[in-house]
Amino acid sequence: MPVRDTFDRPLRDLRVSVTDRCNFRCVYCMPKEVFGPSFQFLDRQEILTYEEIVRLSRLFVAHGVEKIRVTGGEPLVRRDLPLLIEQLSALDGLQDLTLTTNGALLPAQAGPLREAGLERITISLDSLDDATFREMNDVDVGVDVVLAGIDAAREAGLWPIKVNAVVKRGLNDHTIVDLARHFHGTGIIVRFIEYMDVGTTNGWVLDHVVPAAEIVERIDAALPLEPLDPNYVGEVARRYRYRDGGGEVGVITSITQPFCGDCTRARLSPEGELFTCLFGSTGFDLRALLRGGATDDELADAIARVWRIRDDRYSDLRTEATADLKRVEMSHIGG
Ligand code: GTP
Ligand code: 5AD
Ligand code: SF4
Ligand code: SF4
Repeated sequence: MPVRDTFDRPLRDLRVSVTDRCNFRCVYCMPKEVFGPSFQFLDRQEILTYEEIVRLSRLFVAHGVEKIRVTGGEPLVRRDLPLLIEQLSALDGLQDLTLTTNGALLPAQAGPLREAGLERITISLDSLDDATFREMNDVDVGVDVVLAGIDAAREAGLWPIKVNAVVKRGLNDHTIVDLARHFHGTGIIVRFIEYMDVGTTNGWVLDHVVPAAEIVERIDAALPLEPLDPNYVGEVARRYRYRDGGGEVGVITSITQPFCGDCTRARLSPEGELFTCLFGSTGFDLRALLRGGATDDELADAIARVWRIRDDRYSDLRTEATADLKRVEMSHIGG
């Protein structure tokens, strides 16, 4: 039986951030002024080893986790990632293992990841307009690099592929329809994400959010859409299908239509802190237990205790009062 929180939400998903580092500096996630040359990233010894991650993941699965998503930072910058994937994919009881990446390192790594047991993948790509994309990733990576990553994933047999695009008003909202059109008919599902007030460094203001309803309207005007039912209870994306049979798109509406009521996601930070919300300020230090010699039972008990008292619903409660709370960075805890 999965462990349940104070709102009766079961623990179903674990998102494991394997590094706080990234080879991009997306303006909405790791602005250069903050994440510059003097930024203190975690030291190697602070970060959980693959052995530690796998040990914890097994205990999460025993508590009801069915799906694990590997994230970062950028997970592919961590050395030998396929070794972790291989061990996670072998976990008994795990039904879905996936990974979120910016795609730049996929040409070299898609094959090894697939061979290690990864089945599907999500790749971030915010715009097909090269100048816009370079402005967003802020490290001068061109669209061609990510498209090559997507091709490599497809050729390696990673499928389905989803593409995540954060929409920030005035930055890339003029390119929404192009992105949808490019992947229309390819089987690749694009999900447009409302720009969120995650972390405290990205200068988020509500005016920068393009509501999902507006995103859908703009796509619908070019490529007519109709809504689809969720694939499963608590699915983050709202799904639409192209009326001409060209596949589907999604929108992620954390700002305009929050989805905390069904949130079953736990997050493990690179240094082994357990967060029960993307907008959490602190996590529970599982690494201290791990490295202090705790038994599996003790670790499993700690995980269950943290989940049972969980009452997070940040996006439901978002107000001016919540704006000043300390929040973990997305590049630390994962998307
Ligand atoms: P599938 O398993 O492929 O359906 O993906 P998913 O629904 O788990 O979505 P994904 O992990 O690709 O998340 C997409 C984006 O949704 C993330 O990058 C975040 O921006 C946002 N997101 C995901 N989970 C949460 C959450 O729990 N809370 C909030 N507020 N946003 C979330
Ligand atoms: N708002 C919404 N999504 C974000 N991501 C990163 N920062 C934000 C934000 N402020 C998403 C990126 C990427 C994933 C890792 O997290 O799109 O796909
Ligand atoms: Fe890196 Fe992803 Fe954040 Fe961009 S959104 S800086 S690719 S972690
Ligand atoms: Fe879950 Fe927190 Fe996101 Fe709400 S804001 S959906 S509780 S992670």
